[in-house]
Amino acid sequence: MKTAFVTGGTRGIGLAIAGALLDAGWEVAITGRSPLSRVANTLDALGARGPVSYFPSDAADIDAARSALESAAGRWGRLDMLVNNAGMAPETRSDLLETAPGSFDRVMAVNLRGPFFLCQAAARIMLRALPRVEDYRPRIVNIGSVSAYTTSVNRGEYCVSKAGLSMVTALFADRLAQANIPVFEIRPGIIRTDMTEAVAERYDRLIAEGLTPIRRWGQPGDVAAAVLCCASGQLDFSTGQVINVDGGFHMRRL
Ligand SMILES: NC(=O)c1ccc[n+]([C@@H]2O[C@H](COP(=O)([O-])OP(=O)(O)OC[C@H]3O[C@@H](n4cnc5c(N)ncnc54)[C@H](OP(=O)(O)O)[C@@H]3O)[C@@H](O)[C@H]2O)c1
Repeated sequence: MKTAFVTGGTRGIGLAIAGALLDAGWEVAITGRSPLSRVANTLDALGARGPVSYFPSDAADIDAARSALESAAGRWGRLDMLVNNAGMAPETRSDLLETAPGSFDRVMAVNLRGPFFLCQAAARIMLRALPRVEDYRPRIVNIGSVSAYTTSVNRGEYCVSKAGLSMVTALFADRLAQANIPVFEIRPGIIRTDMTEAVAERYDRLIAEGLTPIRRWGQPGDVAAAVLCCASGQLDFSTGQVINVDGGFHMRRL
């Protein structure tokens, strides 16, 4: 059975990714900061779809995240896919001229530093497993954002973190290419989750006015479908590729 470690799988996009992988016959471990008691119902629902385990850990705590990954991979005896999905918007949106160092550091720790070191930990596990696991084609997927190239001057630290995460994908794709371990960035646009709840009315209006060529919200399932494509192996020669899941937002238009 193929196995995936998905950070931030208790809600939103990560939950959809975990569910889609379970439906496809994978065994999945998810992380989140929530205590087990708060995600019991979610885990029950996922568990009905396939084997799932939960590792409460903060993506910013690189030792805790690494040890969760190692313990899942150790139990499975293999790690077929890491999905770096956990991410956060700044606690408060503030103008670029008011960005607080504490907010900058926290967003960077969760969205960039954590995923960098988890890619590193996953790569080590995968490289060690390659010679001994049969029919083994491990992969890494990082969930980026259109904010990697789109400015939002009231959450600059988020944009910087996602621009950095793009380079993390390119770096690990390059480093792991010789071992045939593909690394992808999936780049969502405006997706309906808790993260966008506070600004949902504004996005409703912008989408209706044509901000995105496809005039609807993205759904977590749209992102999960792209992860499944990566998981299928059909895109393996496209290592380092950015897969836009944004209703066409990335196109320049006249
Ligand atoms: N929604 C969008 O429009 C959009 C667009 C582009 C990119 N993205 C990216 O997609 C990813 C998922 O976003 P989402 O919209 O699904 O967000 P969400 O609804 O806020 O869910 C975030 C998930 O990550 C977990 N999480 C948050 N901070 C964490 C931390 N420090 N350590 C471990 N887990 C953490 C949360 O679980 P707990 O609460 O249990 O910690 C939850 O499962 C993020 O990387 C985000 O930047 C989202």
